Formats: sequence, structure tokens, C-alpha cells
Amino acid sequence: MEKIALVTGSTNNIGKSIAETLAIRGYHVIVTSRHEEEAKSVSENLPGGGFYFQADFSDIASIESLFAFIRNRFQRLDILINNVAFTKNESILDCDLQTWEYTIAVNLRSYYLCTKLAAEIMKAQGGGNIINITVSSSRGMKDKFSYIVSKGGVNNLTLCAAMDLAPYHIRVNAVGSGLVGTPVGYREYVNRPYENPRIPLGHIGEPKDIAEAVAFLASEEAKYITGALLPVDGGVNASL
Ligand SMILES: NC(=O)c1ccc[n+]([C@@H]2O[C@H](COP(=O)([O-])OP(=O)(O)OC[C@H]3O[C@@H](n4cnc5c(N)ncnc54)[C@H](OP(=O)(O)O)[C@@H]3O)[C@@H](O)[C@H]2O)c1
Repeated sequence: MEKIALVTGSTNNIGKSIAETLAIRGYHVIVTSRHEEEAKSVSENLPGGGFYFQADFSDIASIESLFAFIRNRFQRLDILINNVAFTKNESILDCDLQTWEYTIAVNLRSYYLCTKLAAEIMKAQGGGNIINITVSSSRGMKDKFSYIVSKGGVNNLTLCAAMDLAPYHIRVNAVGSGLVGTPVGYREYVNRPYENPRIPLGHIGEPKDIAEAVAFLASEEAKYITGALLPVDGGVNASL
């Protein structure tokens, strides 16, 4: 039987690495992007070939179309990775209502909707796996107001969904990323210095570090883990 994984926002950086890592493990991965050609190209280059769907996660109708595609084409979904994110780095004083609503729509509402729609499919098939990508920090952060608030929501969404969905053999976990080689929302890699003395392990992470943790949580080896918020951050959260 084909095992199907959906990774939201998977043409770049962490999402792309997760898609590749799951494809190597034999999953048929659905790659999404707002840019159809990019999604197509990334999916075509996955080991074993993948699928793609053009989706804007700020748009409820677009998310519903994606899940209609999944129900019609596969009639199942084994893994959902909620990965998309948008950030505008600004303080509460600079954050206007438009930025607030867009950030919450992309980073939190889409996680809620995708989790709910995926859980309906997973409940019917007898189980599944949902993993949310969040930040490792459990503290406040300066000048990242709407983004960090949305990620706090993702953390509690993970805990509550894990409780609600456990009876249906659906595990829900989160991987909290520390700094990796790209700032969220800019799509391209930028030259964040690799060495970083403020990180206990001494350097920033790579997308692959996050992807491997996701693959573990999605695997049978993690079958007794649900409701976990796993930091993958070189020890930053533990040192705060
Ligand atoms: N990078 C870090 O240091 C870091 C640290 C902590 C947590 N994280 C988390 O890790 C995850 C991935 O981050 P990243 O650094 O890989 O970010 P990224 O390179 O900016 O990728 C984010 C993805 O989200 C998609 N996206 C953004 N807005 C969208 C929208 N409205 N509709 C559909 N897709 C949208 C983009 O896809 P398209 O443009 O192709 O549509 C892009 O592929 C995020 O959840 C982020 O919060 C990252």
C-alpha cells in the first residue's frame, strides 16, 4: 500500500529537506507551494517521485481544495507535516492588524485546519501521524511578536490535538527548530554565520537536522510518543 505524506510549504529549506527525507524512507510525498512550477519541480526530483499541489495556506478555500485532492486521489494520508510559516520581524507596537491576521492565518489557522482535515482521513483509516514545526524557544522574543505568538499557539495546538486524537491512534508531536541556515519567510539561504558561541553546541543547525527528527517522530520507533515538543536547537532552549 502507498504511504502518503503531506508536507506544507515544501519547496525550500526545512520543508524541502523533510520532503526528501520522508521520500528516502519510502513515502510518497505531496509537495506544496504557492508557486506551482516550483512544487512540480521539487516533487519530480524526489527519490521515487512525488506529487505536488499549488496551495496558499493563508486561504481557507485553498486548504480545502488540497484535502479534496488528497481524499480523491489517495483516499488516505499517513503523515501530515505542518511546516509553512510567515514572519515579519517587528514588535507589538509596529505590528498592525493586517500583519497579525495574516501571520495567524498562515502559521496557526492553517495548522488547525490541516490537522482537523487530516485527522478526519486518519481516523477513518485507523491512525496516522501529525508533526508540527515550531520554534524551540519557550520564552518571549523581541521584535518577533506575531510570529512567536503564532508558534505558542502551535505548541498548545499540538498538546490539545494529541489528547483529542490519541483514541484514534493518531499521534501528534512538534519539532521545535532552533536557528538553521535560513531566516523564516525569506525562502533563500542567507549567510547566517555557522559558528555561534551563544548556542551550546557552538553552531547553527541544518534543515536536515530538523528533517531527521521529524522522520524519527513519524516512524514506528516513536510509536509510544505523542504530545511531545522536541527541541532541535543545539541546546539553546535548555540553556535559557
Ligand atoms: N529557519 C529557522 O531558523 C527556523 C527557526 C525556528 C523555526 N522554524 C520553522 O521551520 C519551518 C520552516 O522554516 P524555513 O526556515 O524553512 O522557512 P522558509 O524557507 O521561509 O519556508 C517556509 C515555507 O512556507 C511557505 N509559505 C509561506 N507562506 C505561505 C503561504 N501563505 N501559503 C503557502 N505557503 C507559504 C513557503 O512556500 P512558497 O513560498 O513556496 O509558497 C516556504 O516554502 C517554519 O514553520 C518555521 O517557523 C525555522
